[in-house]
Amino acid sequence: MPSKMKAMKDLLICAGKFTYSILDALLSFIVPRPKKNVAGEIVLITGSGSGIGRLLALRFAHLGAILVLWDINPEGNQETCELAKKAGASGVYTYTCNCSEKQDIYRVADQVKKEVGDVTILINNAGVVTGKPFLEIPDECVEKSFDVNIKAHIWTYKAFLPAMIANNHGHLVCIASSAGLLGISKLSDYCASKFAAFGFAESLFIELFAQGHTGIKTTIVCPFFIKTGMFEGCTTANPLLLPILEPDYVVNKIMNAILEEQVYLFLPRFIYFVLFLKSFLPAKTGLIICEYMKILDVMNCFKGRVKKD
Ligand SMILES: NC(=O)c1ccc[n+]([C@@H]2O[C@H](COP(=O)([O-])OP(=O)(O)OC[C@H]3O[C@@H](n4cnc5c(N)ncnc54)[C@H](O)[C@@H]3O)[C@@H](O)[C@H]2O)c1
Repeated sequence: MPSKMKAMKDLLICAGKFTYSILDALLSFIVPRPKKNVAGEIVLITGSGSGIGRLLALRFAHLGAILVLWDINPEGNQETCELAKKAGASGVYTYTCNCSEKQDIYRVADQVKKEVGDVTILINNAGVVTGKPFLEIPDECVEKSFDVNIKAHIWTYKAFLPAMIANNHGHLVCIASSAGLLGISKLSDYCASKFAAFGFAESLFIELFAQGHTGIKTTIVCPFFIKTGMFEGCTTANPLLLPILEPDYVVNKIMNAILEEQVYLFLPRFIYFVLFLKSFLPAKTGLIICEYMKILDVMNCFKGRVKKD
């Protein structure tokens, strides 16, 4: 009998928490959540030498954060550093780090801990794309995709999560992709690595919750194509539902999600609907919709980032 009482009590508590969390989420559509203060936080951004990483650095600089900027490209990273200083960063530390090399990540992470301190906001943003049909992808490109797009996330968590746990304070941001939620033709290595990045970040989110580390937040970002040059040449047949996104719009949304401690951010909103459809529609029906929306063709004119000589 007491076990039945306990089961009933647990069910009522769960129902109460469930209702509260739904109402809280609905309320956040009407009243924006309070934004956290990131002044003085040590923010590490990988792939800060261009694109989304650079724009994120400038937003955090404006908010008075201390920036730790990692990129394989020292010139791009130095440009970001100068722009961030002008934008008001309270400190900017640049490091040339090859995120495809575990030993380089651990070496530079040790240097950061000595020279700057414990990272409190870790943004895994560096990414690479091959953009070829599966059988044309050289093995080394598959390896590079996995090294940069997911394995670097694991090594940076290993390096910086212990201090976050010790202080019960931190924020882990994973810049994944909508290609980490839905398979796309000619993006097999990219999709596989981004699905892995999503799964890794989500499982750590759950694990930290289960261990009671409630002061460590997670944000997982899954955007469609962005006009940064990484997916140069890619197209959309549905600019209303699936527009190619402006970098400033994406960065506004990411900043908002981080400051409001939102866990999932899919861009554009239509991606939430696509995932909902995927969860119950027969696979063949999904393919008919993909054909109609020309999703099978989005990579056909892919050129990617044009390398400077
Ligand atoms: N651009 C898009 O359409 C798009 C869409 C969805 C997700 N994303 C993701 O957003 C993130 C940022 O992309 P972006 O559009 O700003 O691309 P980008 O090419 O402008 O920036 C990527 C940065 O990562 C750096 N980088 C690459 N390899 C590295 C390595 N081995 N070590 C360290 N740094 C390395 C590059 O030098 C560059 O500065 C990526 O993870 C990407 O996969 C991009």
